Amino acid sequence: MASEVRIDPWSSAQSTDYSRIIEQFGITPLDASSIHDASLHQRRGIVFAHRDLDVVLDARDSGKPFGVMTGLMPSGQMHLGHKMVIDQVRWFQQQGGDVTIAVADLESNATRGVSLADARSIALEEYISNYVAMGLDPNRTNIYFQSSRSITQKLGFTLGKKTNLSEMEAIYGFSGDTNLAHVQAPLVQAGDIIHPQLDEYGGLRPIVVPVGVDQDPHLRLTRGIVAKTNWFNVKPAKNGGLVIGLSVQDENGEALGQNDQQKKNQVFADICAELTDLGFADFLSNPKHGSVHIPSATIKDRANIRMRLLALERKMGGMGLLQPSSTYHRFAVGLTGDKMSSSKPKTTIFLNDSPELIEKKIKRAFSGGQATLEEHRRLGGDPEKDVAFQYMMFFFEDDDDFLRDTAASYRAGTILAGEMKQLCVDRALEWMNEHAELKAQNAHLVKDFLAPDAR
Ligand code: TRP
Repeated sequence: MASEVRIDPWSSAQSTDYSRIIEQFGITPLDASSIHDASLHQRRGIVFAHRDLDVVLDARDSGKPFGVMTGLMPSGQMHLGHKMVIDQVRWFQQQGGDVTIAVADLESNATRGVSLADARSIALEEYISNYVAMGLDPNRTNIYFQSSRSITQKLGFTLGKKTNLSEMEAIYGFSGDTNLAHVQAPLVQAGDIIHPQLDEYGGLRPIVVPVGVDQDPHLRLTRGIVAKTNWFNVKPAKNGGLVIGLSVQDENGEALGQNDQQKKNQVFADICAELTDLGFADFLSNPKHGSVHIPSATIKDRANIRMRLLALERKMGGMGLLQPSSTYHRFAVGLTGDKMSSSKPKTTIFLNDSPELIEKKIKRAFSGGQATLEEHRRLGGDPEKDVAFQYMMFFFEDDDDFLRDTAASYRAGTILAGEMKQLCVDRALEWMNEHAELKAQNAHLVKDFLAPDAR
């Protein structure tokens, strides 16, 4: 049997066996051809998988609200890997989503020893000023600091009840000597991901978190916790249709009428009332058995029914949380051919690298060309391995046709490795120059991106 893939958000080792990851963790492969107006990274197979992205796209397509959530770790410098996440966030915003961004200053403080004051200036100067230049809409972007939005810590603390050390061990590979800041950080991050759904922060709506696949453990944790808070569940019924069940917990036994038949009957009447206008022929409500069967509902109705039940749960005093959606991107290879890492400057391009340095880094990058000119002309190069080509595809080139033609010419040996590098340098410098200009022009907008509690 193949050994297990371990994915660890803090490790510098990374599995790139994406099909194994999809299989082992039950992530859904993404089919860009089924997405209307798919993003550049989706079209190019860079965003390759998701969880519940359809819930977000359905909201978009029916004009309902949805949000996108990401976070930044204020340590080090912003590099191309970070840019790609913001490109994805901007796409969701252009599709109608609102944006929430966490500055993980508590996490950075606890796990990397960065003071809160330093974390603030790093976040503003290194990250947020670049985000502003990348064209996010200040009116629909809220950036906050974990340390000054206490609800995220409170959620982390209270939701901790819905998990335990064994689960944290299984998800993250923690063991006896793991320091507890490392145990808490993912819980606060779960609080980050969940809180935009609270009534004070925009209310119940799908929230999507675009991440690199190494961050999936956080989503598994958060989704698991959310599922455990839900009062109602919706499942396919054995005899067809869908069935709604109750999930009785310490907190909701009374509200669900566990020892009060009359109240229980009322709960079931409320469930049916909440769903009447969805147009199902009938509801077979069975309070004794604790279920409502909807014979004419199909799996396509599930998301709608679930949203209604979450709203009902909120009216009854529950949290009414929807599991976050997520998308997963593959990683661009580092310039040297190894993993891209902010602690190894030679592996990546920082957004404030000088044009000369950028040119030098790309010229030295790992190439997919052949060893000699003669061989290259005869055998052709490999664009999959060629960092210069990959960087145009991931970061610098908008035109799909250009990339397709360039890849074909490379394989045919008509474009040489040095020429490929020059194409990449030209595009990288063009992007960087424009970016620097926009950054200067928009510097005054930075404060508009900060939520009131972050100013
Ligand atoms: N832990 C993330 C990082 O290391 C930052 C982060 C904090 C985050 N909260 C988040 C990412 C919520 C996505 C969603 O970069």
